[in-house]
Amino acid sequence: MRQLLDEAAKGGYGVGAFNVNNMEQIQAIMEAAKQTTSPVIIQASRGARSYAQDRYLYHLILAASELYPEIPLAMHLDHGNSFETCKSAIELGFTSVMMDGSLKPDGKTPASFEENVEVTRKVVDFAHERGITVEGEIGVLGGIEDGHGAGGSGLEHVTDPDQAVEFAEKTGVDALAIAIGTSHGAYKFSKKPDGSVLKMDILIAIHNRLPKTHLVMHGSSSVPKDLQDVVNQYGGKLKETWGVPVEEIQLGIRNGVRKINVDTDNRLAITGAIRKVLWETPEKFDPRDYLKPAREAMQKVVALRMTQFGQAGHAGDYKPISIAEIARGYADGTLSTKPLVAN
Ligand code: G3H
Ligand code: 13P
Ligand code: ZN
Repeated sequence: MRQLLDEAAKGGYGVGAFNVNNMEQIQAIMEAAKQTTSPVIIQASRGARSYAQDRYLYHLILAASELYPEIPLAMHLDHGNSFETCKSAIELGFTSVMMDGSLKPDGKTPASFEENVEVTRKVVDFAHERGITVEGEIGVLGGIEDGHGAGGSGLEHVTDPDQAVEFAEKTGVDALAIAIGTSHGAYKFSKKPDGSVLKMDILIAIHNRLPKTHLVMHGSSSVPKDLQDVVNQYGGKLKETWGVPVEEIQLGIRNGVRKINVDTDNRLAITGAIRKVLWETPEKFDPRDYLKPAREAMQKVVALRMTQFGQAGHAGDYKPISIAEIARGYADGTLSTKPLVAN
């Protein structure tokens, strides 16, 4: 992951981090990567690990790396809630972990700055010794729709740029997730977001202070109307809602955002495709009849995002470095963990 993000920074593009829970989602991402010649980040949450089981996930990702040797692939733990969760992911073979110390281990209660620094630093020490990348989070996302987040509007715990600098300096994280008013899930905004609810100015202020730090945007699904419409056309009951416009993400990418987390858009695409088949042909009962269109619908969304984020065309730019080599880089200081701070 660290190499993938450093390369993205050199090339001035962002890389989508797509959540997976099963084989079809992994296949959709890898096919989209092949189609667009993109490096990829696949991520699994604690919920995904418990749904799929660690050993299934391990072998599915191994299969992806064997089948697509030309695609640089990082396997990332999304929203690790404790040192132990991150440690078990690293021991399983994840090449990158998020220690989300912005929340207490319950995934709901905001933690103090000191608690966040302490647990994140502990994960960084353990991970870097083993060549594994760490993402930390400062500030808290809104909402609670999928079990992560402190509730509220998303504006209650927006990242303070001074704290972001202090956090990056004290923890040595490779990537920094910030809170700028977004939340997980489909219900982010009740109208197209403007600067009063989506704080791109805060993101830019953080980038100006930490110009070399890889920033991460969570809750970055765009929740496009066409995907909502398919779900509702075939019996779904989604309420009107808005996500993060792609042009705002692109503005973020011009200002240090290198990893963009997307799950909800793919969930919508999959659900819409399955609903359509079951609605139009209720006599069908072979899961392949609806899982194949679902996989194709997700591939389409992922390929589009890969193009919009700018990672398309970059899979062949570099040869992945081994984890052992990355570990040596952290140990001898070639891979810096001290952020450049501008005043
Ligand atoms: O962070 C949220 C992702 O969408 C993963 O959600 O915990 O329901 O797997 P999940
Ligand atoms: P969305 O719910 O907007 O897709 O966000 C996903 C995410 O941030 C995963 O960590
Ligand atoms: Zn997230």
